[in-house]
Amino acid sequence: KKKSRSVHVCSSCGYSDGQWWGTCKQCGEVGTMKRFTTESAGQKVTGMRVSDNAIRSWVPREAAPVKLTDVYGRVDNANWRIPLHGEFGDEVERVLGGGLVPGSLVLVGGDPGVGKSTLLLQVAALIAERIGRVIYVSGEESVEQIGNRADRLSIETEELFLHSSTDVEDILEHAQRFSPKALVIDSIQTVYLNGVTGSSGGDVQVKECTAALQRFAKKTNIPVLLIGHVTKTGDIAGPRVLEHIVDVVLYLEGEKMSSHRLLRSVKNRFGSTEELGVFKMSQSGLQGILNPSEMFLADPHSDSDYLAGLAVAVIMDGSRAFLIEVQALCVAGSSSVVRHVNGVQGSRADMIISVIIKQAGLKLQENGIFLNVVSGVSLTETAGDLAIAAAICSSFLESPIPRGIAFIAEVGLGGELRMVAQLEKRVSTVAKLGYKKCIVPKLAANSLSEIQGGPEAMEIVGCSNLKEMINSVF
Ligand code: TYD
Ligand code: MG
Repeated sequence: KKKSRSVHVCSSCGYSDGQWWGTCKQCGEVGTMKRFTTESAGQKVTGMRVSDNAIRSWVPREAAPVKLTDVYGRVDNANWRIPLHGEFGDEVERVLGGGLVPGSLVLVGGDPGVGKSTLLLQVAALIAERIGRVIYVSGEESVEQIGNRADRLSIETEELFLHSSTDVEDILEHAQRFSPKALVIDSIQTVYLNGVTGSSGGDVQVKECTAALQRFAKKTNIPVLLIGHVTKTGDIAGPRVLEHIVDVVLYLEGEKMSSHRLLRSVKNRFGSTEELGVFKMSQSGLQGILNPSEMFLADPHSDSDYLAGLAVAVIMDGSRAFLIEVQALCVAGSSSVVRHVNGVQGSRADMIISVIIKQAGLKLQENGIFLNVVSGVSLTETAGDLAIAAAICSSFLESPIPRGIAFIAEVGLGGELRMVAQLEKRVSTVAKLGYKKCIVPKLAANSLSEIQGGPEAMEIVGCSNLKEMINSVF
């Protein structure tokens, strides 16, 4: 007889229980348990995985603990990674921590339309061409539609197989028979597992499908690349549990109006989460950008003088330094002081403005001040303080900062310029890009005089406080 049963599932961690709890027994979140009804007869749900039976059908479990020395025999190439440098440079490979680890489950998240399918189709083609057979499964598009995209990307490899399916068991059965070098699933929101509560894209389905894919990857040693759409609240399809299950979480980001894309590592069991990949979306797919600093500068090729209120800061993202532009606009005569900041922490901006007033003597009190960081990047490092201060001074004094000057220093409450982390790396990036002058804290200037990079030597100017900076720049 068919019996309807209730199961309560935590939308945060995916814990399921026959009974409702105000506080999830697993992750401790409050009010996250939601009720689902299952139609399946007599299925035992209390306190256990809803879909265990469904998954057992195709993946046998390890029978018993195994001897360590037996394991050694199996993992000869344990440290081998699938190399991924191709048309997009080594951006993907570096973000993954040096290549794709066999048997890993990698989640690639991002807004709809940002280019996830494009990126993974390119990655799939690359692996197919270099290593061997890859299956690209889409639950969103027909094989003809995927073929269409592949044609735009000029993919010609014989080893790439397309599969349009949404049934995880069906997908994995085929995958197991094909024994590919990698499996791509586009996307986690469109696939489902039979016997699991809810429709595809729902919390339980997403969680259970991901868990099944993780078991498949570990069992077969086939790496699985999984696409996940980011919902309006910013996380991938609701449950954060997804990020706990997978080995690697990457986010592909980009602004609607810009062709630039950033690939960021948010979690990586096999490498650092410090790396950032930079791409440009072109007619023929994503291309790696070798000199990412260019993208953050408003118009690096224009010959006109800088406008007043523009200053260049150097920020670190992972192991690489980036140049970004800070814009300031001071409007005199505002009866009340308005401060609008975008990309800079409001309290930090307030502090810098107060220090300029008090320690450098600029009468900013009667000004409305607007601050903006070009490209929508957030300037969270104190190393950008001096550039913010310089931009404000430049706008207030109506004196443009000459081209080719970069600013690196933290500003203290006394107006003094302080050391920042990885100063040498920042300065050498500035030098490599052909900048003429770099303003740094005085104490550090001597030890940096050796740094060369561009065709001509860059002048390193040490300043001990804001006043000295103003005197040497304006
Ligand atoms: P897509 O990979 O489908 O995004 P997602 O899977 O994240 O939803 O690509 C989205 C956009 O990229 C689409 O509007 C078309 C554009 N695009 C290019 O500009 N060049 C290309 O070579 C391809 C394949 C797509
Ligand atoms: Mg897509």
